[in-house]
Amino acid sequence: MVMKKNGGIGIIGCGNMGSILVDAVLSAGLYHPSTVYVSDIRKEQTDRLKNDFGVSSADNRTTAERSDVIIIAVKPDKVKDVITEIREALTPSKVLISIAAGVSTKKIEQFIRKMPVSVIRVMPNINVKVKSGIIVYCTGRYARKNCKIAEKIFSPLGIVLKLPESKFDIVTAISGSGPGFLFYIAESIKRICRENGFSESQSATITKYLFYGSAKMLFETGIEPEKLKAMVSSPGGTTLAGLEVFEKGKFPYLLKKVIEKAESRSRELRKNL
Ligand SMILES: NC(=O)c1ccc[n+]([C@@H]2O[C@H](COP(=O)([O-])OP(=O)(O)OC[C@H]3O[C@@H](n4cnc5c(N)ncnc54)[C@H](OP(=O)(O)O)[C@@H]3O)[C@@H](O)[C@H]2O)c1
Repeated sequence: MVMKKNGGIGIIGCGNMGSILVDAVLSAGLYHPSTVYVSDIRKEQTDRLKNDFGVSSADNRTTAERSDVIIIAVKPDKVKDVITEIREALTPSKVLISIAAGVSTKKIEQFIRKMPVSVIRVMPNINVKVKSGIIVYCTGRYARKNCKIAEKIFSPLGIVLKLPESKFDIVTAISGSGPGFLFYIAESIKRICRENGFSESQSATITKYLFYGSAKMLFETGIEPEKLKAMVSSPGGTTLAGLEVFEKGKFPYLLKKVIEKAESRSRELRKNL
């Protein structure tokens, strides 16, 4: 489905996330390459995307002028500069999507100044790289009717959820940092394998399949985690013995503290922007 009537899409900032987005909108058939515009201060980034996908490149301002939907995918401290540069090209009919962590819709609207532009703030997690991300979004004060566009653009990359912006610090801690917490557990399991005499390759394979298989169980059986846990915990067995150590070591409390700390850091970073 090519969204011809929606005109072009512009992606400003073509590093990790911007490149993933170009790939996503094209592979999902949402846009034709001739209607995708990319912009980055690094020419090598846009050259790569032009070569790989046949999209067009331009400077930030021209990209914004040509596009009905503009995605800002630069680091949070660069958002103000980019909006200042493209401000004159923004009109009430355009949708501005920002994926910059911590930059609120209110801040973005302040950078735009008076023009009532539809602003959507999106928070993807790193798992969008394998099209299994958690993507949350919220809308600015003028964007109510334009939510569907964010869902269309981001749904090829995972599950998309609309949340109130007040939930963004906690969801950043859970879904944004969550992969890092799980990778930390994976790293610890891999280390334990090594300490118990498994080779590097055996340790890596065991760890990967442990996570892959367990995630598949959650997905494909549709059984809730507490029930799956019970299924592997026979009375007097090894799993139950191990789980008792988790409980004695107050693991649920520790995890809560981990998330709370990440949430408060998200709040701090947002205030410092
Ligand atoms: N990576 C993630 O997992 C993730 C997850 C959620 C949200 N995000 C958000 O996504 C945004 C992008 O992250 P990323 O990891 O993709 O960053 P990135 O790889 O550094 O890409 C940003 C690109 O934008 C370029 N740029 C800087 N200033 C610019 C300007 N004024 N105009 C045009 N391009 C400019 C950068 O060039 P230079 O390198 O020369 O500055 C870089 O090529 C961030 O705001 C981040 O908070 C990222």
